[in-house]
Amino acid sequence: MHPTSQIVVLDAGGQYCHLIARKVRDLGVYAEVRPSETPAAELAGARGLIISGGPSSVYDPGSPSVDPGIFSGGQAVLGICYGQQVMAHLLGGEVQRGEKGEYGMAVLELEASEDPLFAGLEGRQQIWMNHRDVVGALPEGFKLVGRTATCGVAAIAAPARRLYAVQFHPEVVHTARGREYLSNFVFRVCQCRQDWDARERVAGIEREIRECAGARNVFFFVSGGVDSTVAFALTRRALGAERVRGVYVDTGLMREGETGFVRQMEGVAVEEASGQFLAALAGVTDPEQKRHIIGEEFVRVEERVIEARHLLDEQWILGQGTIYPDTIESGGTDKAAVIKTHHNRVAGIRKLIETSRIVEPLKSLYKDEVREVGRQLELPEALLDRHPFPGPGLAIRCLCSRAEAPVEAGADGWILPVRSVGVQGDARSYAAVLAIQPDAGGGLAQARERATELVNRLRGVNRVVAAVALRRPLPEMGVRPCSLTPARLALLRRADALVRRISQEAGYDRSVWQFPVILIPLGTAQAPESVVLRPVDSVDGMTAQSSPMDPVLLEHLSAELMALENVAGVFYDLTHKPPGTIEWE
Ligand code: XMP
Repeated sequence: MHPTSQIVVLDAGGQYCHLIARKVRDLGVYAEVRPSETPAAELAGARGLIISGGPSSVYDPGSPSVDPGIFSGGQAVLGICYGQQVMAHLLGGEVQRGEKGEYGMAVLELEASEDPLFAGLEGRQQIWMNHRDVVGALPEGFKLVGRTATCGVAAIAAPARRLYAVQFHPEVVHTARGREYLSNFVFRVCQCRQDWDARERVAGIEREIRECAGARNVFFFVSGGVDSTVAFALTRRALGAERVRGVYVDTGLMREGETGFVRQMEGVAVEEASGQFLAALAGVTDPEQKRHIIGEEFVRVEERVIEARHLLDEQWILGQGTIYPDTIESGGTDKAAVIKTHHNRVAGIRKLIETSRIVEPLKSLYKDEVREVGRQLELPEALLDRHPFPGPGLAIRCLCSRAEAPVEAGADGWILPVRSVGVQGDARSYAAVLAIQPDAGGGLAQARERATELVNRLRGVNRVVAAVALRRPLPEMGVRPCSLTPARLALLRRADALVRRISQEAGYDRSVWQFPVILIPLGTAQAPESVVLRPVDSVDGMTAQSSPMDPVLLEHLSAELMALENVAGVFYDLTHKPPGTIEWE
């Protein structure tokens, strides 16, 4: 079906490995991903190889490596992040632990150079970094081409051997000229020709669905979100509407108005299960445990529905709208660290995968590609433009706490004893939040610029928020033990609906990619909760930037939120991803 891959991406376990291949395909050149240790002989047909990033250090026992033969076959090789380190390490250079991590935005100084990889790219430019280890000494025959303030070796080259490496990530959108680096590598260095057109994709996916389903029918649990709706529509188109059924589970963890929205969808029935989910989650505070419970309850409901509808016989298989980031962040490839468990990869579902009774038509696509497929299927724009919403729903936006703890003063702001999930150097973090008061540290824009530096520097903190409105001064606030209760979920649902309505009226929802609203158990005895606003810009959810907001809108939102009963404060998350994640968990 595909042409021979001119570019092969060698997977060293990095979060962005598949994104590299996808960005190369966006240039019109077919690329695929293979395990990093693939023998050089098997890669001989490719014009160029790209070694991805990864969560390990080259000195870790068992850390991913590559066949050193790839460096002497005359083939062009580009190392990215860990790929640069592994290249330097294997060719006699030196890799060492950096003095501090460099996660997020940085400025690259690139020297003028005749080399095809860097053609037209010299000068200062914004790049995206995500590493702690650095190359200390270059291998023989390599020259230094670029550096940042934190990282002395950010771009290197041995042009005579057609070997190149960069510490930053050209594949993510936040590297301003990333596409040019990949394009230079693919066309100038590797001399590839264009052989791939994304429009062929829908036909290809439909073929895969038909092959996978065979004579069987497909049964979907739809969420009303873009992914499951596109997967459902695509499967109906591939197999015919009569062979495809959908059920929407009302978990009690959904946003306001969601169930009503889904009821309008053709071919979908609603299964009420909110009591069951809330009972199973009572008293639970750990975020991963919440996700596991929700996943397991989902499987239980699925089993119940399947049994009640006699779908157990061999005639039926399960369809899912899993997209690529769900797979990668659940440790879905060999070497990726588990950042969080996505509910569609828990044990019950794995069993179905192992027995080949599952079809996941979107599993190799990113969010923006799913929207593009939806457009090709002529699904309504109003649906395709919906912000992504996580499967476990409001449960992961309603933070819980096991212990009682006060807010503490730190040198750079206040440490809120609320732990949330983050991602640093391709690994998971679970740490406290630094709250700053914008009037003390300059405006919000300035505070946002400092946020990455603060997280990189401060141990035990993975997020920075600005305190927007407070009922009492922060030192008088604290966190109390609490879990998911119907009352807390109702408050979050209300806050979320209010934020959605106001930001839609202001047109702000169209300018952000996603706008989670989070409830944290921070406050006083009289008003025990606070609300965090988390608007982000992103393309695919893998990296994201905290999004700025018009001060008048922010003022309006916080005034309305502060008027809600039990709300003691409103905060604004200034953290990019990495080092934060979009969701707080
Ligand atoms: P994070 O928090 O990892 O989120 O930065 C990246 C994107 O993924 C969404 N997300 C999920 N989507 N099931 C989903 O379908 C999940 O379990 C899940 N968890 C996170 C999140 O909303 C963001 O858009």
